[in-house]
Amino acid sequence: MAFSIGMFVRSLVQRNRTSRFRVIVMLPLVITTFLMARTGYVQNRVMQVRNAVIQKGPNQVCIINTAKAIAEETTKKKIPQQTFSFTSYSEALSSQADSESKVVFLAFADMGGFPMAMNFYLTSIQRYDIRNVLFVSSSEEFCSRFQAIEVACFVYMNESAHDKASVYLSKDFINKMNIRTYMILEALQLGYHVIHSDVDVVFFKNPTERIFDVCHFRDPEKVCDVAALWDSGAHNAGFLFIRNSNASISMYKSMEHTAKTTNIDDQKALNGAMRSLKKELRITSLPGAEFQSGLQFFDNSQRQFAGDHPCTHCIVMHNNWIVSMEAKVYRFKEMHMWLYDQDEYYSSTQRRYLAYQNPTYFGNDSTTLAAERSSLITALAIGLILNRTVILPKFVCAKKAQQCTILQHYLLGIFDQSFGSSYREHTFLQNELVPLTVRNSSRWTYVLLNSTELIPSFGVKVFRYNESQEIRQETIEKWFGNETNSVLQFHSLYNVPRIVLKNATADKEFKGKCEKAFVKAKWHQF
Ligand SMILES: *[C@@H]1O[C@H](CO)[C@@H](O)[C@H](O)[C@H]1NC(C)=O
Ligand SMILES: *[C@@H]1O[C@H](CO)[C@@H](O)[C@H](O)[C@H]1NC(C)=O
Ligand SMILES: *[C@@H]1O[C@H](CO)[C@@H](O)[C@H](O)[C@H]1NC(C)=O
Ligand SMILES: *[C@@H]1O[C@H](CO)[C@@H](O)[C@H](O)[C@H]1NC(C)=O
Ligand SMILES: *[C@@H]1O[C@H](CO)[C@@H](O)[C@H](O)[C@H]1NC(C)=O
Ligand SMILES: *[C@@H]1O[C@H](CO)[C@@H](O)[C@H](O)[C@H]1NC(C)=O
Ligand SMILES: *[C@@H]1O[C@H](CO)[C@@H](O)[C@H](O)[C@H]1NC(C)=O
Ligand SMILES: *[C@@H]1O[C@H](CO)[C@@H](O)[C@H](O)[C@H]1NC(C)=O
Ligand SMILES: *[C@@H]1O[C@H](CO)[C@@H](O)[C@H](O)[C@H]1NC(C)=O
Repeated sequence: MAFSIGMFVRSLVQRNRTSRFRVIVMLPLVITTFLMARTGYVQNRVMQVRNAVIQKGPNQVCIINTAKAIAEETTKKKIPQQTFSFTSYSEALSSQADSESKVVFLAFADMGGFPMAMNFYLTSIQRYDIRNVLFVSSSEEFCSRFQAIEVACFVYMNESAHDKASVYLSKDFINKMNIRTYMILEALQLGYHVIHSDVDVVFFKNPTERIFDVCHFRDPEKVCDVAALWDSGAHNAGFLFIRNSNASISMYKSMEHTAKTTNIDDQKALNGAMRSLKKELRITSLPGAEFQSGLQFFDNSQRQFAGDHPCTHCIVMHNNWIVSMEAKVYRFKEMHMWLYDQDEYYSSTQRRYLAYQNPTYFGNDSTTLAAERSSLITALAIGLILNRTVILPKFVCAKKAQQCTILQHYLLGIFDQSFGSSYREHTFLQNELVPLTVRNSSRWTYVLLNSTELIPSFGVKVFRYNESQEIRQETIEKWFGNETNSVLQFHSLYNVPRIVLKNATADKEFKGKCEKAFVKAKWHQF
């Protein structure tokens, strides 16, 4: 939980500079929203490591049952037993840091951030074969799941960190965010250089070489103590390189002091420490075009869907400037930056889908949004009846300018509480992780019309309903119940009357979910 609070607090920091007042007023609201979203998230996503997706090269993707494969491999090869768990932090660091450069990647997350951490591992660490990595968590379960797939993980808790425990962790308020500060300080004090990455980050390549380029500790011309991702006027604590030096140790000691004595998060503590030590500390900003914030990558560069403006010069991107874990995950998925195939999210060959589009602009934004919302409810109802997962369409953005994701309109954390397991992102069928049998399933395009509406497009198969108030479940079953294609494709679902389920309890339940699901999103899902 602390992990995600930190992620949006990091976004708040930038706002804070322009308007302290707004932050103070909004913080309780944001936290409430977050807590609601969080609950739904945990309920909706049972966290089990079943499958991990292994990227074997740019195009070659294979999906294995990890636990089984690993078990078989270990018995076959009789590799000397390595546990990937450690008895002390210094042992963990010395095992994982690069023995020559003494550089170690450190990534912290708690159990609530497990899927995100897994995705970070798959997209950024495993893909580029980065070995000098240590995952750190306050959760035993988190680490045992990583250790199960042979990834080094250290449980950094109150008592494990050399008795500092009782000093820095009160029973009432265990601020897990502070662990980042402590784990980095301790690593520096043990003589390592640290590349710290949040887990809501993706790498486009191994960033080490480029970091050495801009902050080389062997080149006196370029030597620096800290090189951080530069995010709209502040250094971002989510991705930074800290060279082991007296000045950087002083900086982290100052941050440790802030962590122990205040409720200020590590992002603000970092920038505060940088300001107060600016005489001795040599600070470099990682080049903005290559190390991007979420604001830069998604908003300023208008990227929403896989394939939008491929970033050829990107090295690292931090998926910040958006609130809620659900929204972050969704944003990654829509960009095909999500590789964690939890519960066969992508790879199922059995699951069936329903897709439709929003091709029309109805004169103004509010009428259009109302029509799109009603279409989505229709799709979810048909999906429920036919046991098909809805693939979201694009939505029309403000002033019909461009096409948006659902994030533009509704709070996804709330939507997920009702429908978290009933839908997929728009670019799902273009994703290479989805079996070809699903992606290439031949399909008709259907449309549901009343007795007078004109056929919207050539070649669509039309079903006309007589009922003007509501359509019964039986009608839907009669028309589409026999459809065996993986994807049931609709042209659009505008103006369809309410679909009534046979089972009155289920009908009421569905209606209730719909009433709760749609909360208008504000800027960046705040
Ligand atoms: C350390 O954490 C555990 C579990 O979170 C808790 O039971 C224990 O009391 C804590 N110890 C101290 C010294 O705070
Ligand atoms: C820190 O400063 C001391 C002297 O004050 C020096 O001996 C030591 O080498 C310095 N350490 C680093 C890592 O620069
Ligand atoms: C609905 O689809 C899911 C996913 O393919 C499947 O596991 C489940 O058995 C289906 N339920 C029914 C009632 O057919
Ligand atoms: C949008 O259009 C509808 C119908 O065309 C109209 O009733 C409504 O007042 C319009 N809303 C705005 C904000 O212009
Ligand atoms: C799947 O469809 C695409 C596009 O229609 C086509 O290029 C490709 O050959 C098809 N693959 C298979 C295995 O049918
Ligand atoms: C059919 O739908 C159109 C558009 O929603 C509406 O204007 C028309 O009155 C409807 N016709 C009937 C017979 O319900
Ligand atoms: C619609 O009404 C006509 C005439 O009453 C009837 O023939 C047709 O079967 C009805 N269709 C549906 C889908 O109920
Ligand atoms: C669907 O299958 C049932 C039984 O096999 C058949 O009676 C019905 O006519 C079929 N419906 C359609 C629309 O093909
Ligand atoms: C009706 O729906 C409710 C809620 O989904 C479910 O618990 C119940 O088993 C359903 N009843 C029948 C007869 O299917």
